[in-house]
Amino acid sequence: MNSPCRILVLISGNGSNLQAIIDSVQSGQINGKLVAVFSNKADAYGLKRAELAGIPGEVIPYADFNDRQKYDQALVKAIDTYQPDLIVLAGFMRILTDEFVNHYAGRMLNIHPSLLPKYKGLNTHKRVLDAGEKEHGASVHFVVPELDSGPVILQGKISIAENETEQQLIERIHEIEHKIYPKAVRWFADRRLALSKGIVLFDNKPLTQPKLL
Ligand code: GAR
Repeated sequence: MNSPCRILVLISGNGSNLQAIIDSVQSGQINGKLVAVFSNKADAYGLKRAELAGIPGEVIPYADFNDRQKYDQALVKAIDTYQPDLIVLAGFMRILTDEFVNHYAGRMLNIHPSLLPKYKGLNTHKRVLDAGEKEHGASVHFVVPELDSGPVILQGKISIAENETEQQLIERIHEIEHKIYPKAVRWFADRRLALSKGIVLFDNKPLTQPKLL
């Protein structure tokens, strides 16, 4: 078996996706070790989740820098002391500099609450409802410098119910996220995923379409 993948998670808030990954590591489904959880917000509940799981937590507030480049450089410096194999963005609500993204090229994943490439950016659930879409979902993708545009690895889809509220949709999308993110992280930890020239390789073969849960 491969050596456990050293996983470092970046969060800004509740950290329910972090929790799903913690649970999958603890149950042995992910061959990994969570080496640290970083947050840009001191009050992120995800830090509590990390503490409860015995994972080191670090807070690096943007206000200490007020300069995107300096902030991201400080983040890289602090992150790299943990020598991670994989960076997992789990609700880390900051736009990263190209320098940061390129430093972790091919070893940084993000989860986004939409069926990418549709609905990049914020407030996806409301925009999906306003547009009268019939389906919605979540996507795990490799991170590239352009926001929410990296090659998609895995998606989970749901049909939108008639009269479904935004809150109901948010909750159902979270359930999907908690399934797809640990699965994609498991694939990465098992060395089944790679990024080559902007294309996802799964078991060494180009993924022509995202996998579906
Ligand atoms: C998740 O729904 C994730 O998809 C979203 O933030 C939420 C974090 O929830 N991320 C983005 O919108 C990134 N563009 P969590 O803190 O409970 O995991």
